[in-house]
Amino acid sequence: MKLKSVLFAISLTLLTNLSRAGEGMWLPLLLSQLNEKEMRDMGMRITAEDIYSINHSSLKDAIVLFGGGCTGELVSDQGLMLTNHHCGYSNIQKHSSLEHDYLTNGFWAQRMEEELPNPGLSVTFLVRMEDVTTQTLKGVNDKMNQKVRDSIIQANCKALIKEAVKGTQYTAQVKPFYSGNQFYLFVSETFTDVRLVGAPPSNIGKFGGDTDNWMWPRHTGDFSMFRIYAGKDNKPAEYSKDNVPYKPAKHLTISLKGIKEGDFTFVYGFPGTTQEYIPSYAVDMTAFQRNPIAIGLRQQRLDIIDNAMNNDKLTRIQYSAKAAGIANTWKKMIGETRGIKRLDGIEKKQAFEKDFQQWAQSNPGTNARYGQLLPAFDKVFAAYVPVNNAYTYLTEGLLGVEMLRFVYGYNNLVKMCSDKSKTDVEISKLVEALKTSAGAFFKNYNRNVDTRLFETLITTYTQSCETGLQVPVVKETAAKYKGNIKAWTSDLYKKTIFADSVKLNAFLSGFVRKDVRKIEKDLSYILASGIYTYSQNTFYPLVSAFTTTNDSLQRLYIAAQMEMQPDKRFYPDANSTLRVAYGNVKSYLPADAVEYKWFTTLDGIMQKENPDIYDYVVEPRLKELYNLHDYGRYADADKSMHVGFIASNHTTGGNSGSPVLNADGQLIGLNFDRCWEGTMSDLMYDPDQCRNITLDIRYCLFIIDKMAGARRLVDEMTIAE
Ligand code: ARG
Ligand code: ASP
Repeated sequence: MKLKSVLFAISLTLLTNLSRAGEGMWLPLLLSQLNEKEMRDMGMRITAEDIYSINHSSLKDAIVLFGGGCTGELVSDQGLMLTNHHCGYSNIQKHSSLEHDYLTNGFWAQRMEEELPNPGLSVTFLVRMEDVTTQTLKGVNDKMNQKVRDSIIQANCKALIKEAVKGTQYTAQVKPFYSGNQFYLFVSETFTDVRLVGAPPSNIGKFGGDTDNWMWPRHTGDFSMFRIYAGKDNKPAEYSKDNVPYKPAKHLTISLKGIKEGDFTFVYGFPGTTQEYIPSYAVDMTAFQRNPIAIGLRQQRLDIIDNAMNNDKLTRIQYSAKAAGIANTWKKMIGETRGIKRLDGIEKKQAFEKDFQQWAQSNPGTNARYGQLLPAFDKVFAAYVPVNNAYTYLTEGLLGVEMLRFVYGYNNLVKMCSDKSKTDVEISKLVEALKTSAGAFFKNYNRNVDTRLFETLITTYTQSCETGLQVPVVKETAAKYKGNIKAWTSDLYKKTIFADSVKLNAFLSGFVRKDVRKIEKDLSYILASGIYTYSQNTFYPLVSAFTTTNDSLQRLYIAAQMEMQPDKRFYPDANSTLRVAYGNVKSYLPADAVEYKWFTTLDGIMQKENPDIYDYVVEPRLKELYNLHDYGRYADADKSMHVGFIASNHTTGGNSGSPVLNADGQLIGLNFDRCWEGTMSDLMYDPDQCRNITLDIRYCLFIIDKMAGARRLVDEMTIAE
């Protein structure tokens, strides 16, 4: 190599090493060992021990897993907690009706007594984590197959968990890392009395709606507030009026000092799932096979639901949370596939695989262990892709019909009625439970919407899903109707008792055991149980055989990658355990000739305002404050009201609501999304394009304080000015 190109190569590797600093979701336990130095070099002023410690209280004691899949953080010594609006959305929705439309108008408890309980909602703190790889793998060897291996591991985990929670109110779990090459034990504490304290109106908390979702520049005030309640002993307790605000070991200090480009930031939360180390075949299946099918089916559902919501206020309340969920994944999939294409993701993986193969074959030892790995992946995926496609048509298409998902809930009743050992009392108990769930279902159900969903989705399914893998009952019924799905739809919804609350209630009210025949003969029940049976008997074995093989290949593949690149620092894929991602506040270049600045302001909200478009209606009170320029201590040094900012932290679903912290470990914002061009980061992180989107904490407090007038909440917080 000529000197010039040597220098070029050196500067190139330096550059990539530096600019990759945002990649990775790291284990809090290992920060001091793996990351602390780099974090401090990047500007951090606190220590790894301040972030995670088992001996002292640390920032981890202020972080919770919120509900099943978001993050929340404690911001007062009285259990006050922040998360995203979209994380609290379904709970806000459950308290909403046409009379009390908290979703549209917002909700603010004036006193603690007005804070609203949320049955079913829980938050979980991490008490401690521990590497238990050796204990978990005791008795396991390389010769045994995945099944035997799994059962030994399971038994070992059971013992570890039992020991870990002995004599405490804690729960524990052992989770695999690096596809089962390492294992960590997590001891946790879960609180179930979590009450809604406040939420901004949707035109703030969801400003920009699904139009702006997954995109920058963003102006969403995506936050809501809850409070954790505990028993008098500060321990978890079921909901009771007598419970008291929980006193956390730690709550976050909020910084109003502002930020600037280049600042060090970190995100502390519970990222859900990533797959950074999979082979090209797997990326191809997700990005270019599954995504396009699911995108098309979701698009059809959204067209129908959005249209209905735009024409009717009640339908908007009933379907807004459902539509948001469908749209969120739909848009993410579009972005992900585009991102992989733009990055030449498949080609990059293939290039790596070529090197890998060469390395594996370069010596007899590695060749024996890893030489056949990639060919094996190739074979497994080639066989599995058609199955996965058909399964996607089933889950995203057929099960997109609400009634079919609902009616399958009657399967247990059918089983019970034909089981002689079950008493009538047991049966009527189940019928009562079904009555309650029917009430909840029909509160948010519109028969016309569902009829249109059925006709459209069944049409697509029968036309597009590979015939050999179509659910027989669907295929046969369509044939009986000679492909006239319209006629089928109208017959079905006319005859079934499951699409009409009055009919169903009447049926359940007088239910006796022999009435089960009416369920068994109901056309929608026949259809739903046919779909589930096929999925159990045909798909489940295929999917599970694939998963078992793929898991064991993937475990070896990661071990091999680590062996091949001994100097590379591998971070484990996200698995809903507590992680730290760190990076810098940073603008980016999303497209030719376009530069995106790193922050947005209230001025931008006014620029987007459009009273005729639901997503861009600006809250009148917010406009008033804007016109008065009344931002108080929440204004930036540049005098404007900052709303959002972006940084290079590596985040994923589940990180929503996560605190974004500054170099001093103070709260500067709430993570809520990623930029469109970087949504492929679950499969492949690109330092140039991947940015997490954060709600500036100053805008959040401005809304609570100035707009909602909920000063009592701000007064509870610890604020650094
Ligand atoms: N894209 C973000 C996340 O994945 C926010 C979703 C909620 N917002 C929405 N408009 N659907 O969760
Ligand atoms: N919006 C996501 C969440 O709800 C975060 C992300 O995917 O970046 O967790």
